[in-house]
Amino acid sequence: MASNPASRESFSSKFGIIAAVAGSAIGLGNIWRFPYVLGENGGGAFLLLYLFFVVVIGVPVMISEFLIGRKARLNIFGAFKLLAPGKPWYLVGVMGVGVAFMILAFYSVVAGWTLHYVFLAATNHLTGKGPAEIVQVFETLKVNLWIPVFWTLLFLALSAFIVRSGIKKGIEKYTKILMPVLFVIILLLDIRAITLDGASEGLAFLFSPDFSSINGRVVLEALGQAFFSLSIGMGVLATYGSYIRKSDSLGGTALTVSLADTMIAVLAGVAIFPAAFAFGLEPNQGPGLVFVTLPNIFNQMAGGYIFALLFFVLLSIAALTSSISLLEVVVAYFVEQLKMTRKVATWVATGIMAFFGILCALYSKLFGAFDFVSSNIILPLGGFFVVIFVGFVLGNKSAREEMEADGKRARYFVPFMFIVKFVAPIAIALVFLNGLGLLNFLFQ
Ligand code: TRP
Repeated sequence: MASNPASRESFSSKFGIIAAVAGSAIGLGNIWRFPYVLGENGGGAFLLLYLFFVVVIGVPVMISEFLIGRKARLNIFGAFKLLAPGKPWYLVGVMGVGVAFMILAFYSVVAGWTLHYVFLAATNHLTGKGPAEIVQVFETLKVNLWIPVFWTLLFLALSAFIVRSGIKKGIEKYTKILMPVLFVIILLLDIRAITLDGASEGLAFLFSPDFSSINGRVVLEALGQAFFSLSIGMGVLATYGSYIRKSDSLGGTALTVSLADTMIAVLAGVAIFPAAFAFGLEPNQGPGLVFVTLPNIFNQMAGGYIFALLFFVLLSIAALTSSISLLEVVVAYFVEQLKMTRKVATWVATGIMAFFGILCALYSKLFGAFDFVSSNIILPLGGFFVVIFVGFVLGNKSAREEMEADGKRARYFVPFMFIVKFVAPIAIALVFLNGLGLLNFLFQ
């Protein structure tokens, strides 16, 4: 990405920014990760915690990342170096590069499963199967290991090709049309799911909170899911922020994207849990959840073949627009800090990701560890430093200046700064210590 502030382009419309940021945010995190993590953490109470964290921590962290990027008109490392010269803040950016590797390793495995399901849907391998057979289809991925490895590598190659050839803008043009189509398909799935016999149990699981299921670990996972789904805590959105025009509102952009992202996650849950209960599947079965529930709904719909195919194609595209935002961070770092050419940077980054991606495809323990540590530990830690930076290094004057660059008074500025300085950092620290069992240890 260009680092010369004068020549830096901007998004040409408000909708362009929103589509690009939503492209990064909306992905497997909403449709694959949210339901499976919610299912493992007791349901409704997790949903409430998640919504709370999106509003109270997610939106302010997103605004903060935009603010840092737009202020410096640079990516996160460049921004930290420019805004806090000679200080070690840029290490937060380096941490972001590390976590991008971790996320993309397991992300490309799940995206690989999605591509495999495109193939299965197209070749009519999902229709006419009962729930037990559909579970069996997913299980074969654990036996024939070369299948997931193949699709993982194919997905990484696609991401690399897009990042390398700079056709990201072209892709974003299509996602503006395709993501609303995905939204409509999920709505249709919802309608079919909630009219299934036995659906009400699933709706109750999702919407009637059982507070006895809450413990430190559940709270930590809800926070981690909020970070993962919104693409925050890694500095990706600083780069996007650097392209937002001064005349556009940072708060408005963050709110719109967070709302759309959260809506897609909840609607995915409304399709998956009623179906899981109706077909006698366990809600807490882990990462395979979406792949074993949804095909059953397609089988109960007129035109199920087409819907299944369209759904998995669109989910693959949603995964792709997210993965390119992850890969871009690493490539930008290699280009700007290690002085590689863009081509070399892309292939070196992809090569390393492929290595870890294969390991994640083969060893579910490593997959689980990368998934848990990146979302629940490293992203919130990144978010913690981002808000501290905006609150105490940039400070009120500088932050307000950037926030009001559109010439309008930011009425939410005072509560925003209060959250950024105190509420968010303290909440993240507490959730952390509690979730990792360190509070018990300290207060024993
Ligand atoms: N938010 C994406 C999803 O929900 C994943 C993702 C893309 C991401 N870029 C990120 C997560 C940066 C954390 C940080 O699928």
